[in-house]
Amino acid sequence: MTRSQARLVAVGGYVPERIVTNDEIAGRVETSDEWIVNRTGIRERRFAADEQTTTDLATEAALRTLEAAGADASDVDTVIVCTGSPDMIFPSTAALVAHRIGTPRAAAFDLSAACSGFVYGLAQGVALVDSGIARSVLVIGAEVFSRVTDQNDRRTCILFADGAGGALIVADEPRDEPGFLGWDLGSDGTGADDLYLPASGERQSAPGEPVPAPGAIHMDGRAVFRFATRVMAESSRTLLDELGLTVDDIDLVVPHQANARILEQAAERLGLPLDRLYMTLDRHGNTSAASIPIALADARDAGRLNPGDRLLLIGFGGGLSWGSTVVRYEPLGGEVPG
Ligand code: ACO
Repeated sequence: MTRSQARLVAVGGYVPERIVTNDEIAGRVETSDEWIVNRTGIRERRFAADEQTTTDLATEAALRTLEAAGADASDVDTVIVCTGSPDMIFPSTAALVAHRIGTPRAAAFDLSAACSGFVYGLAQGVALVDSGIARSVLVIGAEVFSRVTDQNDRRTCILFADGAGGALIVADEPRDEPGFLGWDLGSDGTGADDLYLPASGERQSAPGEPVPAPGAIHMDGRAVFRFATRVMAESSRTLLDELGLTVDDIDLVVPHQANARILEQAAERLGLPLDRLYMTLDRHGNTSAASIPIALADARDAGRLNPGDRLLLIGFGGGLSWGSTVVRYEPLGGEVPG
């Protein structure tokens, strides 16, 4: 078997049309545009239309990713959807997306790693390609978090939103510097209670804790804040050290879009200039597993993501979990090898 190496050749993003402003939220719960902007950096976010599901958003992101690659759905042999808000437990969202985009025999599965999901999904895609099991993997992050958030809970409803994004990973000849240079993935279950989404309401609150609405996200904001600033810097540092790189070797850092204060504090710890930290959360809020690929596509459209760029992607969230990778963006100009 010829060894192959995975490359990131295309990204695509989709956010639903409906814009929900901070003022709209302030009309429902006791908060204000000023409070939300100061504490989170979020000015507006997108919510799916009533008839749109996670599969709809994921399908749109998949099609846009393929269009960016100039690839046909029939070239794709594996679809991975990273999501914490699937339409159903099974069939997987990925199987539904594969059917919709027209990949007749693609392997398809969902991946659950909360807001770290997209980086974990990339790791799975790369492992499948490098091992020779797959040659062309579509990794999608997709969420309808507006429906798993208690819209009367001001601590969470200001943050979470809907959207989808994707990346196409394809097999290529091995080169000295691989397309994906390295990984740092991890989890710490001691923080499981700091951020969770009960499945079908099975999970109960600890005694003395507020009872979350059925099927709604429960979050200890301060604990998550502390974890996120620490782990974003630690994971990036661990990975860069392992690769013998510094932040100066990275063209653009695209983190999970959780909260501007988290990202800015972590950037300071890393010694990363803010002009190389890409943020879209002012417009998109926190779209969990979808936030990194949405931001990647946004950066490309804004001229901030260019062929050959070396990227540092960092996810963190429920688990508590985290995942970082350094990857080169290598669009093929329309061709998917293999
Ligand atoms: N509007 C106005 N006041 C509010 C709001 C709101 N939307 N939310 C909370 N408050 C109040 C609280 O009730 C509290 O009042 P009190 O002191 O009278 O009790 C006060 O503001 C301070 O509350 P804190 O929770 O300490 O506020 P904090 O400064 O920590 O900000 C926030 C809250 C924005 C949620 C912050 O903790 C945070 O961003 N945490 C990280 C959350 C996050 O990013 N989660 C997702 C990351 S991982 C993932 O994506 C799944």
